[in-house]
Amino acid sequence: PEAPLVLGIETSCDETGVGIVRGTELLANAVSSSMEEHVRFGGVIPEIAARAHLEAFLPTLRRALTTAGVELDDVDAVAVTAGPGLAGALMVGVSAAKGLALAADKPLYGVNHLVAHVGVGLLEGQGSAGGADGDGAAPTLPPRTGALLVSGGHTEILRVGSLTDDVELLGATIDDAAGEAYDKVARLLGLGYPGGPAIDRAAADGDPAAFRFPRALTMPKFVGTAEDPGKHRHDWSFSGLKTAVARAVEQFEAAGREVPTADIAASFQEAVVDVLTAKAVRAATEHGLTTLLLGGGVAANRRLRELLAQRCAAAGLELRIPPVSLCTDNGAMVAALGAQLVAAGVAPSALDIGADSSQAV
Ligand code: KG4
Ligand code: ZN
Repeated sequence: PEAPLVLGIETSCDETGVGIVRGTELLANAVSSSMEEHVRFGGVIPEIAARAHLEAFLPTLRRALTTAGVELDDVDAVAVTAGPGLAGALMVGVSAAKGLALAADKPLYGVNHLVAHVGVGLLEGQGSAGGADGDGAAPTLPPRTGALLVSGGHTEILRVGSLTDDVELLGATIDDAAGEAYDKVARLLGLGYPGGPAIDRAAADGDPAAFRFPRALTMPKFVGTAEDPGKHRHDWSFSGLKTAVARAVEQFEAAGREVPTADIAASFQEAVVDVLTAKAVRAATEHGLTTLLLGGGVAANRRLRELLAQRCAAAGLELRIPPVSLCTDNGAMVAALGAQLVAAGVAPSALDIGADSSQAV
């Protein structure tokens, strides 16, 4: 049988995404971002994001259908991010998906945003797991795959036995997301929003060892032993790091000295990337994982890619990093996961599903 043609909708944060896949083949990935509307606020404003999704949805849908060369009637299913994310933003996508599913009489699949980030790893032509097998049957992830998801909204490590029914959260941030820390520190340094790319650039001219910023939750009492794991063994915390950077900036300002922006950016980045990679690799190793997939907007970070590649290689872990356009929020990842659910014979969602802003994996 031909692999299912699935339309995926993503509106959990500031990206309006509509993607179309046939099984593991990517046909279209149309994305419209309201990021620029949030710049002057230094962060995503939920009401602005929700209204922007309303305005962008139909044009983005049309673009995806045109690119894929298909019509709504051709699709086998509609998949949509049901959570986690911003409640009002999610609601726009979920309502749109229901409308399309109802109008075209197609099954609807409400999917989890984090699991969808992992589903993107199955798409062909990007070093995807399994690869195409040519007969339209969906390839699967290696049975012991982990995913490190790092964005402005989330910082998690997952164990993914099966995208359809075996996903476990191994660890997560207990306060700020890593991308959020980048955004807040960039603001402190006057580097603008979004902070990730700005700090990535500024850090290139700085000394990562100039400041020794804290690596939270790495002390023995949190790490524990194999028999008695510490409470936050695989978790992260970035709020103390942000405070440490703020204090360093204040000290230079109070002394009337120029703030060494590049050195602070590089040292901050080194602290984030050090603790992200060390703890992700340890979580993966302790859970016997063989493959680690990187996702989320922070996956664009050059130092993160470099250090993660080094540490994965040293630990014997295979690292997979999809192209940045598939790491940041998009509809193709939702469609990719939807296609897996259809192929696995999973029952569709009810047409009265809601958006669940705090949905767990
Ligand atoms: O996945 P994404 O587009 O949206 C969500 O937050 O869900 O991720 C955006 C985040 C922002 O916090 C941005 O500052 C960060 O990813 N980011 C980066 C880089 N590019 C984007 N962080 C570090 N280095 C980068 N090069
Ligand atoms: Zn995301």
